[in-house]
Amino acid sequence: AGALRGVVALDGPSGTGKTTVARTLATRLNSGYLDTGSMYRIITLAVLRAGVDPADAVAVAALVDRVRIGVGTTPDRPSALLEGEDVGREIRLADVTAAVSAVSSVPRVREVLVAEQRRVIADVIADVGGIVVEGRDIGTVVAPDAELKVYLTASAEIRAARRSAQDSAAGREVTVAAARASVDRRDRLDSTRSTSPLRAAGDAVEVDTSDLSIDQVIVALSELASRRGLLR
Ligand code: DC
Repeated sequence: AGALRGVVALDGPSGTGKTTVARTLATRLNSGYLDTGSMYRIITLAVLRAGVDPADAVAVAALVDRVRIGVGTTPDRPSALLEGEDVGREIRLADVTAAVSAVSSVPRVREVLVAEQRRVIADVIADVGGIVVEGRDIGTVVAPDAELKVYLTASAEIRAARRSAQDSAAGREVTVAAARASVDRRDRLDSTRSTSPLRAAGDAVEVDTSDLSIDQVIVALSELASRRGLLR
């Protein structure tokens, strides 16, 4: 396939297959990988551990300047660190997922994390030449100059079914109905917040994954990257 040159911005709501697609694509194209959602999750975990109310924007903003977080950019084993501790498993737990929208809507949190994300992207580009970055505001805010912007969508029903299957696979039993409620709630919060709401960049390629396999999505994105001359 060749090696990726430049930044691929992969945005969209949860349950679109975004994480699997981003990691597999980065692995196949020998590039770096950045999961920006994990950074919001690490801060959220820090908020919960500190006993801070996720809805208390002032206290959350004060905390984000005090914590030290780290993320790995290797697609086959992305790591998540809080004060040097591996929190990769903990940041996927339901209490973090329930609080992450509130924490990620605090402007200071976004300011700090977007700056950190831009720094990581620049480092990886200097190092290996290419990176796949997944999130909600990559094409609109974090990397508006990305060489390729993709916005993944899927029907809410399909996304809830995928979320539920993902949770069961990880040993957390969640009914499709509960997953649907959680997906709907997070969609609503993420797309209506005032700072960097979830939306497609004007120049993003929209891909509806409802009726596509993960592999079909990856093939489609590799072709897009190739047609844009991003594969060396
Ligand atoms: O992709 P995820 O489910 O791990 O993301 C967790 C939350 O973080 C999501 O509900 C919204 C927020 N997020 C964000 O606001 N901006 C990003 N670039 C990535 C995630």
